[in-house]
Amino acid sequence: MSFTIVEQATPRLNRSELAVPGSSPNMFEKAAKSAVDVVFLDLEDAVAPDQKEQARKNVVAALNDIDWGIKTVSVRINGLDTHYMYRDVVDVIEQGGDRLDLIMIPKVGTAADVYAVDMLVTQAEDAMGRTKRVGFEHIIETALGMANVDDIARASKRNESLHFGVADYAASTRARTTNIGGPNPYYGVLTDTPEGGGERDFHWGDMWHYAIARMVVAARAAGLRPVDGPFGDFKDPDGYRAQGNRAAVLGCEGKWAIHPSQVELANELFSPPEKEVEKARRVLAAMEEASREGKGAVSLDGKLLDIASIRQAETLVAKADQIAARGG
Ligand code: GLV
Ligand code: MG
Repeated sequence: MSFTIVEQATPRLNRSELAVPGSSPNMFEKAAKSAVDVVFLDLEDAVAPDQKEQARKNVVAALNDIDWGIKTVSVRINGLDTHYMYRDVVDVIEQGGDRLDLIMIPKVGTAADVYAVDMLVTQAEDAMGRTKRVGFEHIIETALGMANVDDIARASKRNESLHFGVADYAASTRARTTNIGGPNPYYGVLTDTPEGGGERDFHWGDMWHYAIARMVVAARAAGLRPVDGPFGDFKDPDGYRAQGNRAAVLGCEGKWAIHPSQVELANELFSPPEKEVEKARRVLAAMEEASREGKGAVSLDGKLLDIASIRQAETLVAKADQIAARGG
Protein backbone atom coordinates (compact mmCIF):
# COMPACT_ATOMS: atom_id res chain seq x y z
CA MET A 1 0.00 0.00 0.00
CA SER A 2 1.04 3.55 -0.58
CA PHE A 3 1.93 5.78 2.36
CA THR A 4 -0.79 8.08 0.95
CA ILE A 5 -4.10 7.18 2.51
CA VAL A 6 -7.13 7.70 0.29
CA GLU A 7 -9.86 9.16 2.48
CA GLN A 8 -13.26 7.80 1.50
CA ALA A 9 -16.19 10.14 0.87
CA THR A 10 -19.31 9.95 3.06
CA PRO A 11 -20.64 6.44 2.34
CA ARG A 12 -24.07 6.48 0.70
CA LEU A 13 -26.03 4.01 -1.37
CA ASN A 14 -25.91 5.26 -4.94
CA ARG A 15 -27.18 2.32 -6.99
CA SER A 16 -29.88 4.37 -8.66
CA GLU A 17 -30.04 8.13 -9.15
CA LEU A 18 -33.31 9.51 -10.48
CA ALA A 19 -33.43 12.72 -12.51
CA VAL A 20 -36.54 14.77 -11.78
CA PRO A 21 -37.11 18.07 -13.65
CA GLY A 22 -37.55 20.97 -11.25
CA SER A 23 -40.25 22.27 -13.55
CA SER A 24 -42.42 19.17 -12.97
CA PRO A 25 -43.51 19.31 -9.31
CA ASN A 26 -46.17 16.70 -10.04
CA MET A 27 -43.33 14.15 -10.23
CA PHE A 28 -41.79 14.99 -6.84
CA GLU A 29 -44.07 12.90 -4.58
CA LYS A 30 -43.73 9.85 -6.80
CA ALA A 31 -39.94 10.19 -6.73
CA ALA A 32 -40.00 10.50 -2.92
CA LYS A 33 -42.00 7.28 -2.64
CA SER A 34 -39.94 5.34 -5.18
CA ALA A 35 -37.22 2.82 -4.33
CA VAL A 36 -34.48 5.12 -5.60
CA ASP A 37 -31.31 5.73 -3.58
CA VAL A 38 -30.61 9.29 -4.74
CA VAL A 39 -33.01 11.83 -6.25
CA PHE A 40 -31.68 14.82 -8.11
CA LEU A 41 -34.01 17.71 -8.64
CA ASP A 42 -32.92 19.29 -11.87
CA LEU A 43 -32.56 23.01 -12.51
CA GLU A 44 -30.33 22.52 -15.55
CA ASP A 45 -30.97 20.87 -18.90
CA ALA A 46 -34.43 19.43 -18.24
CA VAL A 47 -35.70 22.96 -17.54
CA ALA A 48 -36.38 25.49 -20.32
CA PRO A 49 -34.92 29.01 -19.83
CA ASP A 50 -38.33 30.61 -19.30
CA GLN A 51 -39.04 28.10 -16.50
CA LYS A 52 -35.78 28.41 -14.60
CA GLU A 53 -37.08 30.75 -11.92
CA GLN A 54 -40.26 28.80 -11.27
CA ALA A 55 -38.31 25.55 -11.19
CA ARG A 56 -36.00 26.99 -8.53
CA LYS A 57 -39.02 27.95 -6.42
CA ASN A 58 -40.52 24.48 -6.89
CA VAL A 59 -37.29 22.86 -5.76
CA VAL A 60 -36.96 25.05 -2.68
CA ALA A 61 -40.57 24.20 -1.74
CA ALA A 62 -39.95 20.50 -2.34
CA LEU A 63 -36.88 20.51 -0.08
CA ASN A 64 -39.01 21.99 2.71
CA ASP A 65 -42.35 20.28 2.25
CA ILE A 66 -41.84 16.78 0.87
CA ASP A 67 -40.99 13.82 3.06
CA TRP A 68 -37.97 12.35 1.28
CA GLY A 69 -37.54 9.64 3.93
CA ILE A 70 -34.01 8.25 4.04
CA LYS A 71 -33.26 9.07 0.41
CA THR A 72 -30.30 11.19 -0.51
CA VAL A 73 -31.55 14.44 -2.05
CA SER A 74 -29.51 16.42 -4.53
CA VAL A 75 -30.12 19.50 -6.69
CA ARG A 76 -28.50 19.89 -10.09
CA ILE A 77 -27.61 23.54 -10.45
CA ASN A 78 -27.02 25.30 -13.75
CA GLY A 79 -23.54 25.47 -15.26
CA LEU A 80 -20.95 28.01 -14.19
CA ASP A 81 -21.18 29.69 -17.58
CA THR A 82 -24.80 30.74 -16.98
CA HIS A 83 -26.20 33.57 -14.87
CA TYR A 84 -28.64 31.15 -13.21
CA MET A 85 -26.01 29.31 -11.24
CA TYR A 86 -25.23 31.71 -8.37
CA ARG A 87 -28.90 32.13 -7.49
CA ASP A 88 -29.47 28.37 -7.70
CA VAL A 89 -26.81 27.90 -5.02
CA VAL A 90 -27.84 30.82 -2.84
CA ASP A 91 -31.56 29.98 -2.89
CA VAL A 92 -31.29 26.25 -2.26
CA ILE A 93 -28.81 26.73 0.59
CA GLU A 94 -30.54 29.74 2.14
CA GLN A 95 -34.14 28.59 1.73
CA GLY A 96 -33.95 24.83 1.21
CA GLY A 97 -33.65 23.92 4.88
CA ASP A 98 -31.50 21.08 6.13
CA ARG A 99 -32.87 18.38 3.87
CA LEU A 100 -30.50 19.08 1.01
CA ASP A 101 -27.66 16.53 0.99
CA LEU A 102 -25.82 17.21 -2.25
CA ILE A 103 -25.36 19.71 -5.05
CA MET A 104 -24.70 18.34 -8.50
CA ILE A 105 -22.41 20.45 -10.66
CA PRO A 106 -22.90 19.90 -14.39
CA LYS A 107 -20.24 20.30 -17.10
CA VAL A 108 -17.50 20.85 -14.55
CA GLY A 109 -14.33 21.60 -16.50
CA THR A 110 -11.55 22.45 -14.05
CA ALA A 111 -10.69 22.25 -10.38
CA ALA A 112 -11.23 26.03 -10.25
CA ASP A 113 -14.93 25.46 -11.12
CA VAL A 114 -15.24 23.30 -8.02
CA TYR A 115 -13.37 25.85 -5.94
CA ALA A 116 -15.71 28.62 -7.07
CA VAL A 117 -18.86 26.69 -6.12
CA ASP A 118 -17.27 25.58 -2.85
CA MET A 119 -16.59 29.22 -1.97
CA LEU A 120 -20.15 30.25 -2.70
CA VAL A 121 -21.70 27.29 -0.86
CA THR A 122 -19.42 27.85 2.14
CA GLN A 123 -20.41 31.52 2.39
CA ALA A 124 -24.12 30.72 2.10
CA GLU A 125 -23.86 27.91 4.67
CA ASP A 126 -21.93 30.07 7.12
CA ALA A 127 -24.33 32.97 6.72
CA MET A 128 -27.25 30.64 7.53
CA GLY A 129 -25.43 28.95 10.41
CA ARG A 130 -25.95 25.67 8.60
CA THR A 131 -23.96 22.94 10.31
CA LYS A 132 -24.73 20.14 7.88
CA ARG A 133 -22.22 20.48 5.04
CA VAL A 134 -23.56 19.91 1.55
CA GLY A 135 -21.59 17.41 -0.57
CA PHE A 136 -20.75 17.70 -4.28
CA GLU A 137 -21.48 15.42 -7.21
CA HIS A 138 -19.71 16.32 -10.45
CA ILE A 139 -20.81 15.40 -13.93
CA ILE A 140 -17.85 14.64 -16.16
CA GLU A 141 -19.42 15.41 -19.51
CA THR A 142 -17.04 17.59 -21.48
CA ALA A 143 -13.64 16.98 -23.06
CA LEU A 144 -12.24 19.62 -20.66
CA GLY A 145 -13.75 17.88 -17.63
CA MET A 146 -12.33 14.53 -18.70
CA ALA A 147 -8.91 16.07 -19.36
CA ASN A 148 -8.92 17.48 -15.80
CA VAL A 149 -10.77 14.66 -14.11
CA ASP A 150 -8.05 13.89 -11.52
CA ASP A 151 -7.80 17.52 -10.39
CA ILE A 152 -11.59 17.86 -10.25
CA ALA A 153 -11.86 14.71 -8.13
CA ARG A 154 -9.47 16.18 -5.54
CA ALA A 155 -10.67 19.79 -5.68
CA SER A 156 -12.88 19.89 -2.58
CA LYS A 157 -13.49 18.06 0.67
CA ARG A 158 -17.16 18.22 -0.27
CA ASN A 159 -16.64 15.92 -3.26
CA GLU A 160 -18.57 12.64 -3.07
CA SER A 161 -19.05 11.30 -6.58
CA LEU A 162 -18.22 11.60 -10.28
CA HIS A 163 -20.89 10.90 -12.91
CA PHE A 164 -20.39 10.09 -16.57
CA GLY A 165 -22.72 12.39 -18.53
CA VAL A 166 -22.66 10.56 -21.80
CA ALA A 167 -25.06 12.84 -23.71
CA ASP A 168 -23.11 16.05 -23.25
CA TYR A 169 -19.81 14.16 -23.43
CA ALA A 170 -20.75 12.92 -26.89
CA ALA A 171 -21.63 16.45 -27.95
CA SER A 172 -18.42 17.88 -26.49
CA THR A 173 -16.12 15.29 -28.06
CA ARG A 174 -18.19 15.22 -31.28
CA ALA A 175 -18.56 11.49 -30.97
CA ARG A 176 -20.93 9.82 -33.40
CA THR A 177 -23.76 8.44 -31.37
CA THR A 178 -27.19 7.05 -31.96
CA ASN A 179 -29.17 6.78 -28.72
CA ILE A 180 -28.02 8.30 -25.42
CA GLY A 181 -25.58 5.98 -23.67
CA GLY A 182 -26.07 3.12 -26.11
CA PRO A 183 -23.62 1.41 -28.44
CA ASN A 184 -22.92 2.43 -32.02
CA PRO A 185 -23.01 -0.27 -34.71
CA TYR A 186 -20.01 1.35 -36.42
CA TYR A 187 -17.81 0.93 -33.36
CA GLY A 188 -16.39 -2.55 -33.70
CA VAL A 189 -13.84 -4.76 -35.38
CA LEU A 190 -14.10 -7.07 -38.37
CA THR A 191 -12.35 -10.37 -37.87
CA ASP A 192 -9.99 -11.76 -40.49
CA THR A 193 -11.29 -14.29 -42.95
CA PRO A 194 -10.90 -17.70 -41.26
CA GLU A 195 -8.19 -19.94 -42.63
CA GLY A 196 -9.63 -21.95 -45.47
CA GLY A 197 -12.31 -19.32 -46.10
CA GLY A 198 -15.68 -18.61 -44.54
CA GLU A 199 -17.61 -15.73 -43.00
CA ARG A 200 -15.91 -12.84 -41.24
CA ASP A 201 -17.49 -11.71 -37.96
CA PHE A 202 -18.16 -8.17 -36.83
CA HIS A 203 -17.82 -7.63 -33.05
CA TRP A 204 -19.46 -4.57 -31.57
CA GLY A 205 -17.31 -2.69 -29.08
CA ASP A 206 -18.20 -0.33 -26.24
CA MET A 207 -17.40 3.18 -27.44
CA TRP A 208 -17.71 4.52 -23.85
CA HIS A 209 -15.23 2.11 -22.33
CA TYR A 210 -12.30 4.51 -22.11
CA ALA A 211 -14.34 7.39 -20.71
CA ILE A 212 -15.99 5.34 -17.98
CA ALA A 213 -12.80 3.51 -17.01
CA ARG A 214 -10.89 6.82 -16.89
CA MET A 215 -13.51 8.38 -14.64
CA VAL A 216 -13.65 5.31 -12.38
CA VAL A 217 -9.89 5.48 -11.78
CA ALA A 218 -10.01 9.21 -10.99
CA ALA A 219 -12.95 8.74 -8.65
CA ARG A 220 -11.55 5.74 -6.77
CA ALA A 221 -8.09 7.30 -6.46
CA ALA A 222 -9.77 10.21 -4.66
CA GLY A 223 -12.12 8.05 -2.56
CA LEU A 224 -15.24 9.06 -4.52
CA ARG A 225 -18.13 7.03 -5.98
CA PRO A 226 -18.11 6.63 -9.76
CA VAL A 227 -21.64 6.60 -11.21
CA ASP A 228 -22.72 5.91 -14.78
CA GLY A 229 -25.08 8.43 -16.37
CA PRO A 230 -28.18 8.18 -18.52
CA PHE A 231 -29.48 5.57 -20.93
CA GLY A 232 -31.96 7.35 -23.12
CA ASP A 233 -34.24 4.63 -24.45
CA PHE A 234 -36.40 3.89 -21.40
CA LYS A 235 -38.47 1.42 -23.43
CA ASP A 236 -35.40 -0.81 -23.74
CA PRO A 237 -34.79 -2.44 -20.33
CA ASP A 238 -32.45 -5.03 -21.87
CA GLY A 239 -30.31 -2.28 -23.35
CA TYR A 240 -30.28 -0.54 -19.94
CA ARG A 241 -29.27 -3.78 -18.21
CA ALA A 242 -26.42 -4.38 -20.64
CA GLN A 243 -25.02 -0.86 -20.26
CA GLY A 244 -25.52 -0.92 -16.48
CA ASN A 245 -23.79 -4.28 -16.14
CA ARG A 246 -20.74 -3.18 -18.06
CA ALA A 247 -20.48 -0.04 -15.90
CA ALA A 248 -20.79 -2.18 -12.75
CA VAL A 249 -18.08 -4.51 -14.01
CA LEU A 250 -15.77 -1.51 -14.51
CA GLY A 251 -16.35 -0.39 -10.91
CA CYS A 252 -19.28 2.05 -11.04
CA GLU A 253 -21.55 2.07 -7.99
CA GLY A 254 -24.72 2.97 -9.78
CA LYS A 255 -26.46 4.45 -12.77
CA TRP A 256 -28.88 7.24 -13.49
CA ALA A 257 -32.54 6.67 -14.12
CA ILE A 258 -34.12 9.19 -16.46
CA HIS A 259 -37.46 7.42 -16.03
CA PRO A 260 -38.92 5.80 -12.89
CA SER A 261 -38.99 2.41 -14.64
CA GLN A 262 -35.17 2.40 -14.66
CA VAL A 263 -34.91 2.69 -10.85
CA GLU A 264 -35.61 -0.98 -10.07
CA LEU A 265 -33.29 -2.04 -12.87
CA ALA A 266 -30.42 0.01 -11.44
CA ASN A 267 -31.05 -1.22 -7.88
CA GLU A 268 -30.97 -4.78 -9.10
CA LEU A 269 -27.83 -4.37 -11.25
CA PHE A 270 -25.82 -2.58 -8.58
CA SER A 271 -26.79 -4.70 -5.57
CA PRO A 272 -24.20 -7.36 -4.85
CA PRO A 273 -25.52 -10.84 -5.74
CA GLU A 274 -26.77 -12.89 -2.75
CA LYS A 275 -24.18 -15.61 -3.40
CA GLU A 276 -21.28 -13.14 -3.30
CA VAL A 277 -22.57 -11.59 -0.08
CA GLU A 278 -22.88 -14.98 1.56
CA LYS A 279 -19.31 -15.88 0.57
CA ALA A 280 -18.06 -12.50 1.82
CA ARG A 281 -19.72 -13.13 5.20
CA ARG A 282 -17.94 -16.48 5.42
CA VAL A 283 -14.63 -14.78 4.57
CA LEU A 284 -15.12 -12.32 7.45
CA ALA A 285 -16.16 -15.09 9.84
CA ALA A 286 -13.01 -17.05 8.90
CA MET A 287 -10.93 -13.94 9.49
CA GLU A 288 -12.43 -13.39 12.94
CA GLU A 289 -11.88 -17.00 13.90
CA ALA A 290 -8.23 -16.84 12.77
CA SER A 291 -7.64 -13.70 14.79
CA ARG A 292 -9.31 -15.26 17.88
CA GLU A 293 -7.01 -18.23 17.56
CA GLY A 294 -4.00 -15.95 17.05
CA LYS A 295 -3.32 -17.29 13.55
CA GLY A 296 -1.56 -14.98 11.08
CA ALA A 297 -2.90 -16.69 7.94
CA VAL A 298 -6.61 -16.95 7.20
CA SER A 299 -8.02 -19.72 5.06
CA LEU A 300 -11.45 -20.67 3.75
CA ASP A 301 -12.46 -23.92 2.08
CA GLY A 302 -8.81 -25.00 2.11
CA LYS A 303 -7.56 -21.85 0.33
CA LEU A 304 -5.49 -19.05 1.82
CA LEU A 305 -7.21 -15.66 1.80
CA ASP A 306 -5.19 -12.61 0.86
CA ILE A 307 -5.69 -9.14 2.32
CA ALA A 308 -7.29 -7.86 -0.91
CA SER A 309 -10.10 -10.43 -0.78
CA ILE A 310 -10.71 -9.70 2.91
CA ARG A 311 -11.01 -5.96 2.10
CA GLN A 312 -13.38 -6.70 -0.76
CA ALA A 313 -15.46 -8.88 1.54
CA GLU A 314 -15.69 -6.05 4.08
CA THR A 315 -16.85 -3.58 1.41
CA LEU A 316 -19.40 -6.03 0.05
CA VAL A 317 -20.87 -6.87 3.45
CA ALA A 318 -21.03 -3.18 4.41
CA LYS A 319 -22.98 -2.48 1.22
CA ALA A 320 -25.32 -5.44 1.72
CA ASP A 321 -26.02 -4.19 5.26
CA GLN A 322 -26.77 -0.69 3.95
CA ILE A 323 -29.19 -2.15 1.40
CA ALA A 324 -30.86 -4.30 4.06
CA ALA A 325 -31.24 -1.26 6.33
CA ARG A 326 -33.08 0.46 3.49
CA GLY A 327 -35.47 -2.45 3.22
CA GLY A 328 -33.80 -4.22 0.29
C1 GLV B 1 -26.08 14.23 -18.45
O1 GLV B 1 -26.21 15.32 -18.00
C2 GLV B 1 -25.63 13.98 -19.78
O2 GLV B 1 -25.34 14.95 -20.47
O3 GLV B 1 -25.54 12.80 -20.15
MG1 MG C 1 -25.55 16.84 -19.38
